[in-house]
Amino acid sequence: MRALHRWIAIAAIVLVGTSAQAEDGYDLWMRYRTGQTVAADAIETRGDTPSLRVAAAELRRGLVGPGPIVLAIATDRDVAALHLPLSALGDEGYLIRSVKLGDRAVTLVTANTDRGILYGAFALLRHLQTGGSLDRIALTSTPRIKLRVLNHWDNLDGVVERGYAGVSLWDWWTLPDFRDPRYTDYARANASIGINGTVLNNVNAKADSLTAPYIAKAAALADVFRPYGIKVYLSARFSAPIELGGLKTADPLDPQVAAWWKAKTDEIYRAIPDFGGFLVKANSEGQPGPRDYHRSHADGANMLAAAVRPHGGIVMWRAFVYAETDPEDRAKQAYTEFKPLDGKFADNVIVQVKNGAIDFQPREPFHPLFGAMPKTPLMIEFQITKEYLGFATHLAYLGPMFAETLSADTMAKGVGSTVAKVIDGSLDRHRLTGIAGVANIGRDRDWSGSTFNQANWYAFGRMAWDPTLKADTVAREWAAMTFSPAVVEPVVGMMMGSREAVVDYMTPLGLGHLMATGHHYGPGPWVADLARPEWNPVYYHRADKTGIGFDRTATGSNAVAQYAPGVARNFANPATTPERDLLWFHHVPWTQRMASGRTLWPEMVHHYDAGIAYVANMRREWDALRPSIDDERWTKTATYLAVQDREAHWWRDASIAYWMSINGLALPAGAAAPAHDLAWYKAQRFPHAPGNPQ
Ligand code: GCU
Repeated sequence: MRALHRWIAIAAIVLVGTSAQAEDGYDLWMRYRTGQTVAADAIETRGDTPSLRVAAAELRRGLVGPGPIVLAIATDRDVAALHLPLSALGDEGYLIRSVKLGDRAVTLVTANTDRGILYGAFALLRHLQTGGSLDRIALTSTPRIKLRVLNHWDNLDGVVERGYAGVSLWDWWTLPDFRDPRYTDYARANASIGINGTVLNNVNAKADSLTAPYIAKAAALADVFRPYGIKVYLSARFSAPIELGGLKTADPLDPQVAAWWKAKTDEIYRAIPDFGGFLVKANSEGQPGPRDYHRSHADGANMLAAAVRPHGGIVMWRAFVYAETDPEDRAKQAYTEFKPLDGKFADNVIVQVKNGAIDFQPREPFHPLFGAMPKTPLMIEFQITKEYLGFATHLAYLGPMFAETLSADTMAKGVGSTVAKVIDGSLDRHRLTGIAGVANIGRDRDWSGSTFNQANWYAFGRMAWDPTLKADTVAREWAAMTFSPAVVEPVVGMMMGSREAVVDYMTPLGLGHLMATGHHYGPGPWVADLARPEWNPVYYHRADKTGIGFDRTATGSNAVAQYAPGVARNFANPATTPERDLLWFHHVPWTQRMASGRTLWPEMVHHYDAGIAYVANMRREWDALRPSIDDERWTKTATYLAVQDREAHWWRDASIAYWMSINGLALPAGAAAPAHDLAWYKAQRFPHAPGNPQ
């Protein structure tokens, strides 16, 4: 009996020991499994601020070989004596270098601010985890974009709109009393990739988030995030003066309305002295806004901007607007509404523009507003959560998608006027610059619903810091830290083509918005009966007996004319439109000859097949990695890849069955017939699919 007890005790210790090491994804890319520790006194901090303290703690948690490592601000006497090139670092950049400090050889992490040092500490950890050494280290970096912000579409009841990773991380109910340690880990993760702002609540905002109890809750989060250099912002419901203030109007030019917002803003700043400001979705998809009072978006934004200005706050005003009452091509509506307002916004307003003109599709050409509003700071908004790219279960690395838009040439000021240069302010000399990502974070143990989704959070942060970073460079860093340097090449190989595979099996050759209604899960290209025309997939693909695609040239909606002439010319001509965007801009005969020599119809089928073949290949690659990856993360990913495989076939088969019902063409030789008839695909229902707006 005693022997048995002892055995149980030993087994328990072993089990606890293992579970402490369990790889459930919680540690993200900050696993620090180097097996090395550093003596506590090997890290020296000069000065004492909360940010310096967390920077040193992070290094102690992660390190790694011998010290001494010195964290010291640029004004430190010994650092100043080194005459390092620190002025260009601004207030967030860092410099890491092997130096002699006094008479000691040390690794110096320095910056003009403690936040810069914190970023330097994380950069040092990244360097060491990806195979770098401390030997003659020389790293320096400064972010190119000022506001690097996550947008949480989190409702106050915990449901995350378009969220596929569990309920909201914010437990509004137990805040402000309980500060879940996860809030700190969230802040660490963001700081490690340079994210410096977070909008806590959904753009489809409830006025309640501006009431005193919720301000106190937001303030508790702001306290946790502050040492990590992260500012809190709130989505503001434009009609809050009516709902909370009892006013009869929310007209931005009404003095009482402006006074209400000013008082409300002052109240927020009393609780959160470094509050970042407001994000606003106005007059879009049923949200209230200045247009309700025949005022412009600039009138609305400027009124709020005046309220936050005395506190140094800003307003991020979204350009995602379209109206069912407007018969104009939906892709044109944001430009039509915002372009005339260029130069009319206050200087603490930044207009937030989605990467493409419709809505976060697997592929969209860059939004025509980029380059078209030189007098207005524009920030870009990407979706990190995969509303239209297979939810959490499909492996789709978005780095290539971010890079594709950021490197797109608007030609607004000649060749080389990339979207990145528009948003980093260099093209039009703006000081207020920003980038936003709709978060894919929830209370799932692995934060993002799958290990590979973490890569999209990571890539967003890294590319927000430096929008010229290459997607594969970022993927390599992530894979080395998330798994191990040994599996980097095969993992990156899987990741790099994964988003294109989704494009291929869902919306090839420039198609878009073909997803099922509401939840957007699965195919629905046949949907034609919804009240608003632009909610129907048939509005977007326009397939008929002779061809498919949306004519956005002069013979159609002429959306191409919204681009700068050099770009417009290319998009206006099918021969100079990249094939990947062809059906976005042109209605093309099924018999059109493509670059491959195939005609359009077999070319489409070829893309569907390429998409499913890529997924099959990822499964094979992942199987081969089994011995090199821990069981828990390997198994979940393998299971999700099987789901993706099944759903990729579903997308392909449903799409092909539908197109054949329209074009009456036979399957190309050698192509597999859909597994079911069209009626079967049309009959699929998913009333409880996650992420649906409430
Ligand atoms: C998409 C998404 C909505 C969201 C909207 C927005 O349309 O489906 O859930 O509210 O974008 O960005 O405002």
